[in-house]
Amino acid sequence: MQIKFKELKLNNFKSHQDLQVNFGEVTKITGDNAKGKSSVLEAISWLLYGIDTLGSKTDPAPVTYEADETMVSLLLDVDGKDLLLGRELKKGKTKYLINEVPSKATEFNEILDQLFDKNMFLSLFNPNYFFTMHWEKQREMILDYVTAPANKEVLKELPEAQSNKLAELVKKQSLADLEKIHCDKKNKLDKQYIAAQSRTKTLKEQFEDQAPKVPQESLQAELSQLTKQRNEIEKVTDEALTTNSEFNNIQSQINSLNDQIEMSKNRWPSIRDEKIERTCRTCKQPLDEKSVAAVEEDKEKRVATYKAEHSDIVNKRNALKKDLEELEYIDVAEELEKSRALQDKINPIEAELNKYKQLEAFQEQIEQAEQTEKQTRDDLNESIFILDSIKDFYAKEAELQAKKVQSLFDNLSIKLFKKQKNGDDKPTFEIQMDGKDYSKLSLSESIRAGLELREVLSDQSDIVAPVFVDNAESITKFKEPSGQLIMAKVIAGEELKIEEDK
Ligand SMILES: Nc1ncnc2c1ncn2[C@@H]1O[C@H](COP(=O)(O)OP(=O)(O)O)[C@@H](O)[C@H]1O
Ligand SMILES: [Mg+2]
Repeated sequence: MQIKFKELKLNNFKSHQDLQVNFGEVTKITGDNAKGKSSVLEAISWLLYGIDTLGSKTDPAPVTYEADETMVSLLLDVDGKDLLLGRELKKGKTKYLINEVPSKATEFNEILDQLFDKNMFLSLFNPNYFFTMHWEKQREMILDYVTAPANKEVLKELPEAQSNKLAELVKKQSLADLEKIHCDKKNKLDKQYIAAQSRTKTLKEQFEDQAPKVPQESLQAELSQLTKQRNEIEKVTDEALTTNSEFNNIQSQINSLNDQIEMSKNRWPSIRDEKIERTCRTCKQPLDEKSVAAVEEDKEKRVATYKAEHSDIVNKRNALKKDLEELEYIDVAEELEKSRALQDKINPIEAELNKYKQLEAFQEQIEQAEQTEKQTRDDLNESIFILDSIKDFYAKEAELQAKKVQSLFDNLSIKLFKKQKNGDDKPTFEIQMDGKDYSKLSLSESIRAGLELREVLSDQSDIVAPVFVDNAESITKFKEPSGQLIMAKVIAGEELKIEEDK
């Protein structure tokens, strides 16, 4: 963008009752002190924005003579198109003119805003103006026009691990979002990690408390020793019990046979003493020989049967008695006592070994807790690594941007960041020339500083605008600026003179 001044008219502006300035590529305004040179610069600031050269509201109505109205008009050429702007002040009221058409303040301001940014224009036009702004505004303006280093450029400067990690992450999310996400994650994981650590610790302590004091192997060795002893005794007692139960069995069989023999004996007299009837029970007639013989034969038969049965039982009993004589009842009370004592020792050992089995499940819980702890720690470290990488990225970006900005200047040094105690970069904006802050510079030094700065702004923004160098007599030489140059120089004893070089 190219902004040119063509013609300026002042009526009743401060000490100027009627002044016309025709601008050339270079316009020289000369004259003694108080001849109205600086007022020309002020007239342009006032016309455009109603402010003085330092940015404050100002009232330029003349105080040394009577005048109805103050009027300033400027014919500009913006990219080859003429624009005539006018501002009038009458009895404290301001009027605006766009191409001689009375307009509202809002229309006037709008047209200006559309043409150029106020701070940019004033910084280009007046070399002092930039330094009157707040440092944040100054910084913002420089950074607005100096493109930030590309992510790729910054990543290249980071250690490989960080660079690879961020390169992969920024494919999906912005660094600012990643920072928020991992900040939040880190806070959560910090807490989760503490909780996970204490869970493992508690479980381990509980395990220690519950774990048997004797090692599993020695318990098992002791157990097998004792079971062996017990089994040996049990073999003996088991055998004894078999024999004894057989003995008891035979004894009870003998007892029952004895009872039977007794009963059989009791039956004998009635069989032996049975009378043979010789008459019929019903007709009372004597029985014949044949019948008597039959009855006698029948009795003999029953006697014989009884005898056979009786001796059978007796024989059976005698045989069992003989068997019993061959068996011996074994007394194993002592062995049983021993075996019981051994079992009493075995029981607590088995209980201890059982604990080991239960502890296996416990052990699994501990392993799981350790796993969770490790996973949480890994996740936490990942978030910390990403946050650190982002921090380093910003630091590197700041460093590169500062370098980039600095490379635009020849004599000025620009500080964009200040290192904080924690190592973070904090935005700042300090301009120095030859190691001195702007506020410490002499008039000539501050003009040179201002000119260098507006040149950089003009270059970076691609806006070519006029520059007004007031008090130009104080600097012996300076680099020719971009845009029209308006110079005001004091020359003792001379009236106000305005010359333009075409
Ligand atoms: N509102 C005003 N009315 C009349 N004269 C003024 C007003 N404001 C400033 N002046 C005077 O205008 C004169 C010109 O000032 P200035 O433009 O600063 O001169 P220069 O820059 O040439 O030294 C000075 O004498 C100043 O006192
Ligand atoms: Mg002056």
